[in-house]
Amino acid sequence: MSIKWIKLSFIVIVAIAGIAGLFIWLGIFNVAATEKHWDATTSLLEIVRDRSISTRSKNLIVPDLTNTERLARAVPNYDAMCAQCHLAPGIEKSELYEGLYPQPPVFHKRNQSSTRKPHEAFWVIKNGLKLTGMPAWGIYNSDEQIWDIVALLSTINSMTPEQYQKLAAAGKHGHAKGGHDKSELSAAGNSNKSEHASGAGEGHHK
Ligand code: HEC
Repeated sequence: MSIKWIKLSFIVIVAIAGIAGLFIWLGIFNVAATEKHWDATTSLLEIVRDRSISTRSKNLIVPDLTNTERLARAVPNYDAMCAQCHLAPGIEKSELYEGLYPQPPVFHKRNQSSTRKPHEAFWVIKNGLKLTGMPAWGIYNSDEQIWDIVALLSTINSMTPEQYQKLAAAGKHGHAKGGHDKSELSAAGNSNKSEHASGAGEGHHK
């Protein structure tokens, strides 16, 4: 390579770094959750997410998930930890669900074939997903508690609001690794208990 080309490449690299630096420093990228990604960005992020989940979960051994006691244990925990974001039969709306971007999938509205595979769902629930709002639940919950919820995810679409509410009310929310009895996000509320005015523009009552 001649000196001329080395100089030229150096100038190009410095110029690109300068433009990238300005782009960041001037705040041109909008981090607002209300500003959607381009379709191409969404597709790329989904590929990164799906490949990462698939690679990291592939050696997990799935236990027997057909045991119906799993559902009885899972629903109270799902109701306390997940329903505010992922909704549930009879809980069709929430501020967290509507405000989050990416929007959490609604498991009870999904058809069976589009649900993530059990070992992949387990991995996501245990470890969370960076930059999405999906928390890592493995910090306080045992693997068995997470498998209980994985079992629930594959049947929740066939549950009626009455069946769901009955199981939610019958059981008790708890963590294997310490914690508390109340909802994780009790202040956020769900559609049943919410104290917020539902009319548009009415805002919060303090
Ligand atoms: C604060 C909101 C929030 C809470 C609470 C929450 N999640 Fe999520 N979850 C998300 C978001 C957002 C995504 C979507 C991320 C994405 O699009 O990649 C997600 C993704 C997932 C996925 C991957 C689904 C798929 O097909 O890609 C699973 C499984 C999941 N959550 C299960 C749960 C369970 C079970 C709980 C309760 C223990 C829970 N989540 C609690 C926000 C939440």
